[in-house]
Amino acid sequence: MITLRSLTKVFPGGVRALDAVDLTIADGEFFALLGPSGCGKTTLLRTIAGLEAPGSGAVAINGRDVTALPPGRRDVAMVFQDYAIFPHMSVRDNIAYPLRIRKVPRAERAGRAEEVAARLSLSELLGRRPAQLSGGQQQRVALARAIACRPSAFLFDEPLSNLDARLRLEARTFLKRLQRELAVTTVFVTHDQAEALALADRIAVMSAGRMVQIGTPAEVFQRPATTFVAAFIGSTPMNLLRGTSVNGALHVAGAVRAAPAGLGEGDEIVYGVRPEYMNLSETERPDGIPGTVAVVENLGTGALVTLESGDQLVQAVVPEGGEPRLGARRWAVPARSLVYRDGALMT
Ligand SMILES: Nc1ncnc2c1ncn2[C@@H]1O[C@H](COP(=O)(O)OP(=O)(O)O)[C@@H](O)[C@H]1O
Ligand SMILES: [Mg+2]
Repeated sequence: MITLRSLTKVFPGGVRALDAVDLTIADGEFFALLGPSGCGKTTLLRTIAGLEAPGSGAVAINGRDVTALPPGRRDVAMVFQDYAIFPHMSVRDNIAYPLRIRKVPRAERAGRAEEVAARLSLSELLGRRPAQLSGGQQQRVALARAIACRPSAFLFDEPLSNLDARLRLEARTFLKRLQRELAVTTVFVTHDQAEALALADRIAVMSAGRMVQIGTPAEVFQRPATTFVAAFIGSTPMNLLRGTSVNGALHVAGAVRAAPAGLGEGDEIVYGVRPEYMNLSETERPDGIPGTVAVVENLGTGALVTLESGDQLVQAVVPEGGEPRLGARRWAVPARSLVYRDGALMT
């Protein structure tokens, strides 16, 4: 278990990279830290690892306060984006290196390196240098080195981002299976929402050094707590439309929709609908947003249709064969929606 209590880190120059971060990560959990570049993910991971000292707050690993301990005494293994494997060492020596630092006897080092290499399909490559490996193989050497230490937690900083798209998907599935088998607590940093959704048991969405929302992938996807999370999660961005409450109903881009309780007359809201939950009607409907088809993007199994509706754009995913022609009139009818007031989700 990893517990972070009120962690704050302000870099010289004034950047507040961590701002009162509270977090508990359970034993064996695959936990993703997700957020845009510069939001503090790496700083948080380095603070857990002990490579960065917090300005205030505490880090505990398995109930032990490690805030003042150096990295080597925290029993965690970190894998970096650039792998940080040693070019002048063989795969075997790279994997065994942290064990050598810990003064594990030579025979045991060799045995463990071979065992981990076998598990990651690296046995044939033990004698090679990193320059003689593909990107995917280098990535597995970095993983193997972390696993060989048998740490109580893995800390991964965007370990898949240097792989090309196809290999990245393979590595993702491999990593998830491996983490399940080893059942080691894992903190995985990524700026890629699809990666976080696919891998994690729970996700923390970060912005400007703060935790904006912590939840399961389903919770974060279905009920983003703020418009920031709503805009960040999902492979096609959520429609976030301006609307107003009038006479107990919501008026959104020409459609009249049911209003949630608690809205006052004239309140301005943001109406959130994922394009996957937007249906296009060919006939006029009072609850549909009228618009003109401006763009049709092929998604392979369907298409993403963009309607121009006044000064707002509305997007809908339509199934294969249901693509409208450009310039056609359509009504976009939300099947599932969320209402945000002052940027926060209304219940
Ligand atoms: N050593 C440093 N000195 C000063 N500012 C830093 C340092 N490291 C990171 N920062 C700043 O802290 C913020 C968070 O950085 P980082 O944790 O690397 O973000 P992320 O990993 O989410 O991209 C950024 O604004 C970055 O410029
Ligand atoms: Mg980073």
